[in-house]
Amino acid sequence: MSPSSRVAAITGGASGIGFAFAKRWVEAGGVAVLLDMDIDHLRVAVEAIGSDARGIWIDVTSRVSVDDAFSDITATERRLDVLVNCAGIADPSPSHEVSDESFNRMLDIHVTGSMRCARAAYPLLVNSEAASIVNLGSVATYAGMPQRASYTAAKAGIGGLTRTLAAEWAELGIRVNAVGPGYVRTKLTDSLVAEGKLVDGPIRARTPMGRFAEPEEIADAMHFLAGETSTYITGHMLMADGGMSIDGSWY
Ligand SMILES: NC(=O)c1ccc[n+]([C@@H]2O[C@H](COP(=O)([O-])OP(=O)(O)OC[C@H]3O[C@@H](n4cnc5c(N)ncnc54)[C@H](O)[C@@H]3O)[C@@H](O)[C@H]2O)c1
Repeated sequence: MSPSSRVAAITGGASGIGFAFAKRWVEAGGVAVLLDMDIDHLRVAVEAIGSDARGIWIDVTSRVSVDDAFSDITATERRLDVLVNCAGIADPSPSHEVSDESFNRMLDIHVTGSMRCARAAYPLLVNSEAASIVNLGSVATYAGMPQRASYTAAKAGIGGLTRTLAAEWAELGIRVNAVGPGYVRTKLTDSLVAEGKLVDGPIRARTPMGRFAEPEEIADAMHFLAGETSTYITGHMLMADGGMSIDGSWY
């Protein structure tokens, strides 16, 4: 690692969108610290990216685990320029059957988890000359989506968290933005399709561009927000959804 290399920490970095961002970041000359609870995928992901990546096991629902991970970054990389909050799950079920436990778990991973990581990263980010946080929103931030009460509540929460941290930390030089993907071909959506909880035909029909995104296309949008070509943008959710959220052709 060169002392001038910019360091990004990516939760959910072992898979899908988080992995695609970590790879993109290292290809552009940065150092990536992948944070994930899936230790097997984490090992494979770090090996695939190469020597400018390393992995730390984390559970974003545990304050101790999150604080330990960022202490490790403080001791090892001794700097942090970018935090990407990408850890996530999907758990569709009819709203009248959702248990408190599953609802709270969704909020804990997505909203509280992103907050925990932002708070733990803060002492490092305030010392960066160009600090940036990128959160993961979704079309679910804005849309009402049957059987996704916990997911849409969590992604709406990400919108509020992004705007508030952006407003509060702007004067400290920390920009906070989010990307809002439509449907992306990853482990998360593949398992929903396999379980019969997502049917891809209607999704493609509902997306003006007529297809799912590849994780790399979302990583490009995240890289723009994380990097030095978006220096006057904060508190924004950049939709990368193939036009899904702006489509008015319902007639
Ligand atoms: N795939 C999509 O269509 C889509 C669309 C919009 C938003 N998103 C969001 O993008 C993010 C990444 O999703 P993806 O599609 O790449 O999924 P993915 O399943 O490929 O990757 C998610 C990663 O998060 C990790 N993770 C889950 N819970 C964790 C925890 N408690 N602590 C640490 N790591 C944990 C998993 O181990 C996994 O490696 C999520 O926030 C998701 O909601 C995805």
